[in-house]
Amino acid sequence: MFGIFDSKSNVAEAKIFFGSTEATKTLRTERKSPYDGTIVSTAPLCDADDTTKALHIAKDASKTAAASPLSQRILWLEDVVRRLTEEKENFAMMLSKEVAKPITFSRIEVERCAETIKLTALELANLHGETIPTDIMPSGKKTMAYFKREPVGVVACITPFNFPLNLVAHKIAPALGAGNTVVLKPTPEAPMTAYMLAKLFVDSEYAVKDALSVVYGDAEVGSTLVKSPIPRVISFTGSVPVGKIIMSQAGIKKVSLELGGNAATYIDKSADLELAAARCAYGAFYNSGQVCISLQRIYVHEEVYEVFAELLAKETKKLKVGSPYEEDTFMGPLIDEESRHRAKSWVASAKNEGAKVVAGGEEVEGIFPPTVMADVTDEMKIICEEVFAPIVSLVAVPDYETAVKKMNDSPYGLQFSIFTNDLKMTQCFIDDAACGGVVINDIPTLRFDVQPYGGSKLSGVGREGPRWALEEFTEIKSVVIC
Ligand code: SIN
Repeated sequence: MFGIFDSKSNVAEAKIFFGSTEATKTLRTERKSPYDGTIVSTAPLCDADDTTKALHIAKDASKTAAASPLSQRILWLEDVVRRLTEEKENFAMMLSKEVAKPITFSRIEVERCAETIKLTALELANLHGETIPTDIMPSGKKTMAYFKREPVGVVACITPFNFPLNLVAHKIAPALGAGNTVVLKPTPEAPMTAYMLAKLFVDSEYAVKDALSVVYGDAEVGSTLVKSPIPRVISFTGSVPVGKIIMSQAGIKKVSLELGGNAATYIDKSADLELAAARCAYGAFYNSGQVCISLQRIYVHEEVYEVFAELLAKETKKLKVGSPYEEDTFMGPLIDEESRHRAKSWVASAKNEGAKVVAGGEEVEGIFPPTVMADVTDEMKIICEEVFAPIVSLVAVPDYETAVKKMNDSPYGLQFSIFTNDLKMTQCFIDDAACGGVVINDIPTLRFDVQPYGGSKLSGVGREGPRWALEEFTEIKSVVIC
């Protein structure tokens, strides 16, 4: 595919996109598989000068991008979808290599990515303003007013490792589709995955010239993007500490932040416990718990607590842990050593403080396994902070009110869910949950890419999902004709 592999080493080589021009550097970083440590890709290590160059190219191209016909931009996105679908297996394999995502889930991510871009193309048809009835005011008699949406100009996108393909698509497809230019800084953990997607955009016959640049690196690249006056929107998905730095550095521009969470669910005594246990095992351990909406806290009605704990332990023990390249693997390793040590030490301190391990807990061949902790109390780190690892906590509660109070008593507010057959409780929950999204009778880890997605409190600012991202990446111009 694309001639992306170095002919001698067979290691995939990501390149910089300075607009539509590919470039490379002798200073490169190596990406090692989190599973077996082999070098799977390399990427140029960019600095502030490279980033500034990319920003200026984006600025210079922004007029052309804004003037490009919508029909061309829709064809552009559709073309990327078609070629991404043809290359599905190559993309899936690269995802599994760079971030150790099990191959079955890598394929799902490629499918989701194609959907996200397709949905954006569809949504572009609705990117319009509306007339405003100014004559509702006596002073507005005989005037005509409306608003239209215009691209903001340059958008800077900074993306994370956990969905290194689909979360790039959630930013660059609406940003480019709306007629902006983009500078993308993908996660250092999956440079090649991002490069491959960017290449589909840049090489398309419908591409707007120089509309997309890609630079690789760490904080220096990120803060150059954020501090620059050139981008009018910073769109970031990642951790709360980095989100805080971005907020403090960005100055006057729009900032969209998709940050962390410690997603929770309540299992009512009326729930279908077997179904809830199977779904909770999925929601807590999918992608090794490295999902902002990973199920981390399970509040269970005390009358069904013991039964539910047993069912969840049984479901957890069924999950195959191991090589990301095997078809039936459910869960691979965490992204790096630091995450593995954090998971181990948080479980150890919870045990010291009185929590019990119901499943997992001990590493298997260097992989931190799906772990269920029982009798967890509110102040334990595994429940009150974001674990971003395959650890889920069980807490017995006397009633719905206590569950929802505990759920809401968190600095985060991304997604919560409830399992119940009580309709009234469901209705209350929709109103009571202090978060960006609620799920009824399934896990809070559920996300349809067409939905609005984002959180309250420390979980972020703004919403993703094609329709809302298009709003984020455009500005309203108000028009009055007198
Ligand atoms: C995230 O971790 O924020 C993304 C979750 C998803 O897209 O499923």
